[in-house]
Amino acid sequence: MNLINIALDGPAAAGKSTIAKLVAAKLAMIYVDTGAMYRAITYKYLQQNKPEDFDKLIASTTLSLTYDEDKGQRIILDDNDVTDFLRENDVTNHVSYVASKEPVRTFAVKKQQELANNKGIVMDGRDIGTVVLPNADLKVYMIASVEERAERRQKDNELRGIESNIEQLKAEIEARDHYDMNREISPLKKADDALTLDTTGKSIETVTNEILEMVNNIK
Ligand code: DC
Repeated sequence: MNLINIALDGPAAAGKSTIAKLVAAKLAMIYVDTGAMYRAITYKYLQQNKPEDFDKLIASTTLSLTYDEDKGQRIILDDNDVTDFLRENDVTNHVSYVASKEPVRTFAVKKQQELANNKGIVMDGRDIGTVVLPNADLKVYMIASVEERAERRQKDNELRGIESNIEQLKAEIEARDHYDMNREISPLKKADDALTLDTTGKSIETVTNEILEMVNNIK
């Protein structure tokens, strides 16, 4: 098969990154986690005490992705590997706000498009099928019930030794979706030509296989 690009979009905690990683590994493609880019910029925004001048923040920012054989994608921000800080609550709770800013999106989208130039990429995010890769060979819009997404997030947290309350997780996920779907610039929405995949009640293996099947069906 010729090299292809796959766009995987959907709301928060729908399992996009878990599935994207597995699909990429199966097909010997490169996985790009675009949320991590917005999270890295948010980390810097928090480190700098929340400056409101996003043009200035971005003008002093360098961001690159590297791949570690054991640890996967690493995010290098201003010459520092910040990957391990990107899942902190403070970052998660501010990322939708930072990602809604025009200078931030222009900067991140350009990098994402450069990465996808050579094809062979599985990219997950919110606007990949609509804005970043409108010509992607396969677009999947992944959804799951908010209850299940909160439960998955709670299990993830447990594995990381973080205690969390299910009702609070639900509220945070819903708030982030609302913000991401209603922002002015490239809001989260299904591309017209994306296939919807509801993962509620399905195992990781089942969902991965469903996407591999979609890849096989690409004409
Ligand atoms: O996928 P994630 O939870 O790591 O994404 C974090 C946030 O980044 C998400 O709430 C919205 C933003 N985001 C975005 O606006 N566009 C993307 N392509 C990816 C993420």
